Amino acid sequence: MPDTFQALVVEEAEDGTYKRSLRQRTFEALPDENVLIHVHYSALNYKDALSATGNKGVTKRFPHTPGIDAAGAVVESRDARFSVGDKAIVTSYDLGQNTPGGFGEYIRVPGDWVVPLPGGLTLRESMMLGTAGFTAAYGMHHLIHNGTSPADGPVLVTGATGGVGSLTVALLGNQNFDVTAATGKPDQRNYLMTLGAAKVIHRDEIEGDSSKPLLSGRWAAAIDTVGGSMLDTVLRQTRHDGTVACCGNILGGELHTSIYPFILRGVSLMGIDSGRCRMPMRKKIWGKLAADWKPPKLETICRECTLADLDREIDKILAGGQIGKVLVNLKNN
Ligand SMILES: NC(=O)c1ccc[n+]([C@@H]2O[C@H](COP(=O)([O-])OP(=O)(O)OC[C@H]3O[C@@H](n4cnc5c(N)ncnc54)[C@H](OP(=O)(O)O)[C@@H]3O)[C@@H](O)[C@H]2O)c1
Repeated sequence: MPDTFQALVVEEAEDGTYKRSLRQRTFEALPDENVLIHVHYSALNYKDALSATGNKGVTKRFPHTPGIDAAGAVVESRDARFSVGDKAIVTSYDLGQNTPGGFGEYIRVPGDWVVPLPGGLTLRESMMLGTAGFTAAYGMHHLIHNGTSPADGPVLVTGATGGVGSLTVALLGNQNFDVTAATGKPDQRNYLMTLGAAKVIHRDEIEGDSSKPLLSGRWAAAIDTVGGSMLDTVLRQTRHDGTVACCGNILGGELHTSIYPFILRGVSLMGIDSGRCRMPMRKKIWGKLAADWKPPKLETICRECTLADLDREIDKILAGGQIGKVLVNLKNN
């Protein structure tokens, strides 16, 4: 074991701005929890970018190391369920929020947060999926559990070129759903079709719709990663008995809607909370991602970077400019 390890550290300056730098950290800076993991891979999520820019709704205490995703090998364990050398995934709970996260070479976390790496996934693949892939799969689970099948008709995915969006398109397409991908980047049509979309539309086609309480029913179901006015319109465009699963707040935290999609069309709105999903369901979803739900196009969706590249990638995700997902390789630091 080294004396120190490398991590991206975000610090609050006296003028209220937040600065990011790569620093050496000591193990005393990690919480006194029972499983120490050497992180091989992490992934960049929108939430990490919020943490890295001082969003107090995500991270209250600085200096801080973000990274809500981590996968690696157990190097110390006081939890009987885990032994040295076990491969493990940690996503969600408080990792990367107020607990030092996966943008450091080591994390120390409660055993209750640790998912044993399922057979069928490498550590690298698990972080190509990460929280984004887990959220996409959990959303698809909600649709299927609520009765949606591929024969029902078009399923809309919003924010389609983002991390969650890309993996949702890939997962649904791979399960033979008729996927319509809505994006603000129409030049990425080929990318989205390669992932599994049957149709690609500009997001203005949805956002530009009128303010009537119900609109013509276009979608058998939808997975919305954007929220706000986009989600409001999608609800009004969803067909009878359709399910809309939502996870994102890119357009803000407010949702203005009416009762009519729910009482005149029986539309269901289901929230996806990957962060607090219970462990039995968490293991079930990871098990599906390691087997029949494993998307085939992970290499197309992901770009690999190192800790040193993260500063630039964080700015890009905040500007809505990422296409697909950023995988962080910490093995070669
Ligand atoms: N609830 C959960 O458990 C959970 C889990 C993971 C993520 N999330 C949330 O899900 C959302 C997406 O996360 P992510 O990591 O996939 O982020 P991301 O990679 O940045 O993707 C977001 C996508 O939203 C679209 N977008 C950006 N600005 C927009 C705008 N002004 N209007 C409409 N669409 C816009 C863009 O796609 P296009 O250009 O293709 O439209 C962008 O790529 C975030 O709000 C995140 O916090 C929630």
